[in-house]
Parts: sequence; C-alpha cells; structure tokens
Amino acid sequence: MSSKLSTFICQNCGSETSQYFGKCLNCNSWNSIVEEIKVKRSINQSLQYRKKSIPFNEISSKKISRFTSGFKEFDRVLGGGVVPGSVVLLGGEPGIGKSTIVLQSAGKISLNEKVLYITAEESLEQVKIRWERLHQKSIDLKVFAETNLSLIIEEIKSVNPSFAIIDSIQAIHASQMASAPGSVSQVRACSSELQNFAKENNIALLIIGHVTKDGTLAGPKTLEHLVDVVINFEGDKISSHRLLRGIKNRFGSTYEIGIFEMLEDGLREINNPSSIFTNKENISGVTTTITNEGTRPFAVDIQALVNKTFYSNPRRTTTGINTNRLHQILAVIEKHVGIKLSEYDCYVATGGGFEINDPTSDLSVAISILSSLKNIPPLASSSFIGELGLSGQVRKSNNLLPKIEEAARLGIKNIVVPKLDADLENKFKNLINIKEISSIKEAFDYSLLPKKH
Ligand code: TYD
Ligand code: MG
Repeated sequence: MSSKLSTFICQNCGSETSQYFGKCLNCNSWNSIVEEIKVKRSINQSLQYRKKSIPFNEISSKKISRFTSGFKEFDRVLGGGVVPGSVVLLGGEPGIGKSTIVLQSAGKISLNEKVLYITAEESLEQVKIRWERLHQKSIDLKVFAETNLSLIIEEIKSVNPSFAIIDSIQAIHASQMASAPGSVSQVRACSSELQNFAKENNIALLIIGHVTKDGTLAGPKTLEHLVDVVINFEGDKISSHRLLRGIKNRFGSTYEIGIFEMLEDGLREINNPSSIFTNKENISGVTTTITNEGTRPFAVDIQALVNKTFYSNPRRTTTGINTNRLHQILAVIEKHVGIKLSEYDCYVATGGGFEINDPTSDLSVAISILSSLKNIPPLASSSFIGELGLSGQVRKSNNLLPKIEEAARLGIKNIVVPKLDADLENKFKNLINIKEISSIKEAFDYSLLPKKH
C-alpha cells in the first residue's frame, strides 16, 4: 500500500517544508517553493527487498577494472577511467559544452564497449549534426531520443550497454509523478531509479545536470550524495578553455582537474597546462607561481597592477584568486615590508583567469604587487612559491617536491621557496637555482633588484 503526501520543495536548494513560504528558509530565494506530491512507500513493501548482513571477510574484494573515457584528462578526473556500475554526475551551465564532451567521449568508448546515448533535450537530427561536426569514427554508438523514464529504462534493458548517458536529468520525467520535469522531486526520483537500475546491472551511468545561476546543481544535495562521482564543467563562454573539476569521487582523489579547449570541431585536451596559463615575459607586475590542483602541479602567471588611487576607498579587484586573500596579503606587505598601500588601487588577475585555491600562491601575488608598485621586473626566469603568514613569515610547505620538479621541467632557472629539508635541496642542486627565504621582506629584497640606470 502506498499513500500520497503533499510536500513543498524549494526548486533552488531542494529543502522540504510541510507548508508554503514565499521565501525559502534554507537558501533565502524568493518564489522558489513549489508544492509536489510525494508517494510514500509502506513498510511492508520495502520488506520484500530485505537482505542479510554478512561479515567483512566474506565480501569479495574485486579489483576495479576501469575503461577509458577516451580522454586522458577526463580519465584523470574520474580517478583513472570509468568504473563499471558507477554513477557519475556531470554538472555545468547551459552551453558550456557538456553534450559535446560526452558525445566525443561516447564515440571513443563505443569503439570498444557498447554505449547508449540518451538525448532528452535534442532530437536525433540535432545530435547527428553535432556528431558530424566532431568528426567521430564510431558507427556502433546507439542514440535514443526520449524523455519518459520508464521507456528509457526499457531501452537500457534491451540494449544492455556498458556505458549509458542521460542528457540531461532535468529533461526526463517519471510519468507516475505529478510534478513537472526538472522539478526537484522529478530529478531526485528519476536519478535514484536510474541509479538503482545501473548498479543492479553493472552499467556505468553518466548523468548530465544543468546548474542554476549560483553554481549549484538543481536539486543539488540530494543528487550529490546519491551518485559516486560529481564533476563540474567550468569555463566562461568568451575564452575557449574549459575545466573539468572533480568535486566528489568515491573511486579516486577529489579536486582533480582536466583541462580542455573548445574548438570548431569539439573539445581538445590540453596535456601541458603550464603552457596556457603563463607568458614567459619578464615585465613588471607579472610573476609565475606553481600551483597544485588535485594531484597535478602546473605554472600560472599572477599579474598585478598597482596605481595611485583617486577614490577615498582604494579599489581592490581580483580575477582567479579570493579577494579576502588579497586584502590579507596587502596588510602583510604594509606591515612587514613597510610600504603604505592604502593610497593605491590594486588589481590582481591570474593567467587565463584560472581559479587558484592553493595558498602557496601568496608569495607570487605579493611579489607581483611590489613589482608593479616599484615598476621593476622580478628576477628573470623565476617562480615564487610560499604561503604568507600574518607575521610576515613565508610558511614551510610539505608538498614542494612536485612543484619544484614542474618548474625544472619548464626550464625555469630560479625558484624562490620557503626553507626546505636538506635532502630536497640536494636533489635539485644542478637542475634549478633554489633560493630559500623565510620572510616576505627577504623575498622582496632578493627578487626585486632596482633598475641600473
Ligand atoms: P553544448 O555541448 O551544447 O553545451 P551544453 O550541453 O553544456 O549545454 O555546447 C554548446 C556550445 O559549444 C555552443 O555554444 C557551440 C560550442 N561548440 C563549439 O564551439 N565547437 C563544437 O565543436 C561544438 C559541438 C560546440
Ligand atoms: Mg546539452
């Protein structure tokens, strides 16, 4: 027996209430709450599925055998490839290239595995036009245009693929539910039914989901905990670079990123990211840092522009780094290098607008600011790594090895870093000139030599 319940769900954050509110109590968005009918399963029904608990040592420990997505960069974010029976959620703004990357990947996978691409947003003809644009070779990729969940599951059953794609979850609907496609309860119900089906049949499932304006997936938290892997596809529509960012991964490390470029004939992976975020020019206001995103280090330029202000409150604007971090770095410079920055506007941007979360980029930001202010180029062919402490010290960091290796690989001649352990220092003796510093003042004195006239 099942009973129907009325519930009120915020379409922005997915929180539920038992009555209507004009404003969501959880995310504060207005007019986002919609009444939806929920079907509650009775206890007797769920007892039919009862399983028994077993001791740990009786669980078989199968080695995961992954298959490649066709892109090294995509594989990296997935933790080394697609895991059979896993459910991956790929989120991103409309128009960013989700359908494109997935169709390219599906084409490559279908050269070795059975793949079913379910398009709920576009017609078969539209998919064909995109397919031709991407110059794909596969002829075995199966495409199915449908929005009804039961029919989709029937088709997956009959094709029995190794890999199935739902493009997108917001466009499909379970006909037994009264709410509209894309509503939180539809998205939730369809995803959980698809997930159960995929797990039972050992099918790898990739679900595409659009993100709302504030960057969260619609019906977000409920979907994120349901799936094994959550990946965001990011980038702005003006520049051609696109990033795949791992947010959750039950089979690999999180925060891995994959870098692509959107071209006329689809996405191309970029294997050497350092080449696109740096310029190798020695000009004032620009330094290079090596940042770690996921498990991979790469070089990114940090640019600063410091100008006398005409405002009562100087302007501080950032692209790619957190503004609060900039305020903190400016305060450290003011106090520990002894330069009054309150009379200057300060703009900081990373190469290509790449978002840096690694705090060891602080030193590079600080030297760029000082270099722009003094109008002196930094030490030529150099790279700066180090987190600034509030008392002006450059803090010790424990993941410097891969960063120094990357700098050496790129042919950078000097690297300014916090104090190293002796073995690390010896390792790079002949490869790169390592300057160890312990404070921002020391780094400033070393890196910005006054111009000789
Ligand atoms: P799309 O994959 O449809 O985005 P999403 O599925 O995330 O909504 O990508 C759409 C954009 O990508 C569109 O603006 C055109 C552009 N594009 C290219 O630049 N090159 C290509 O080869 C393709 C297929 C699309
Ligand atoms: Mg699409």
